[in-house]
Amino acid sequence: MAPSAYIAPVGDSALIFRDDIFKGKVLFCTGGGSGICRAMTEAVMRHGANAAIVGRKLDRLTQAAKELSEATGQVCIPTQADVRQPKALQEAVSKTIEKFGRIDFVICGAAGNFLAPISGLSENAFRTVMEIDTIGTYNTIKATLAHVRASKGSYIMTSATLHYNGTPYQAHVSAAKAGVDALSNVLAVEEGPHGVRSNVISPGPIANTEGAARLASVAGKDSPYPLGRPGDVRDVGNATIFLFSDAASFVTGQILAVDGGSEHLRTTQ
Ligand code: HXC
Repeated sequence: MAPSAYIAPVGDSALIFRDDIFKGKVLFCTGGGSGICRAMTEAVMRHGANAAIVGRKLDRLTQAAKELSEATGQVCIPTQADVRQPKALQEAVSKTIEKFGRIDFVICGAAGNFLAPISGLSENAFRTVMEIDTIGTYNTIKATLAHVRASKGSYIMTSATLHYNGTPYQAHVSAAKAGVDALSNVLAVEEGPHGVRSNVISPGPIANTEGAARLASVAGKDSPYPLGRPGDVRDVGNATIFLFSDAASFVTGQILAVDGGSEHLRTTQ
């Protein structure tokens, strides 16, 4: 494919959304200590929310929470938990409620990934990623739902685009993310009557992230981008702000690919 004649700008959320749209709101984000989910947390905090970030490594979480608080002027607390352990997640939720008194938004983002062909994928390796991504999302929903119902809040699951086609060496992640998409769809229809929304963001190749770096070796030499560039974490942040905002109050059960159009492109390469 010829190089794109156009390079999409990265939207500056401060110029697009009011800076106080999430004032008084509280975000609970698993996987928020690094990568895309950290950027999603920062985007929501920049528009007025406080946050609790959840992960396994307390030192990394503590550092991230400090940096997020300093960068946004809001309060971010670290809450250590492995999403595979429901009790630990419930304790993280209790800590969040003790600190902030409510949970409005939840990002189910904790994920595991590595490249392995099915022929070399052990039962434990497959199960590990299913447990982190799919069961971890289920556990997060169960731990937070009463609070999200109380605030008539909203969920975003972070998925991926790799399972919409066959991506080599990603059987475990593809199966796990398909489960995540399905969980969100069911949550949307069951909880809509309680005022709760649930949507999925599926990031495509996002520059400077662990996931993209790992997948680069199976993505083809010159991955074509119809919008002229790979994604930026701020692109995912902007989609997050939209889906949590009242501008999306009639949007639920949707899967939003943030991938510059890559998923729909067929090439003859
Ligand atoms: C084959 C592997 C493997 C590899 C681990 N395993 N790495 N098998 N190839 N490269 C196997 C192990 O041998 C073991 O099976 C089983 O998986 C469990 O491994 P553990 O190390 O014991 O598990 P754990 O400590 O829980 O670690 C989980 C992990 C780890 C997923 C394996 O890599 C991890 O947490 N990584 C950091 C998170 C991460 O990658 N985040 C980025 C997500 S990006 P056996 O049979 O030996 O017992 C993302 C987006 C993708 O998801 C899309 C981007 C476009």
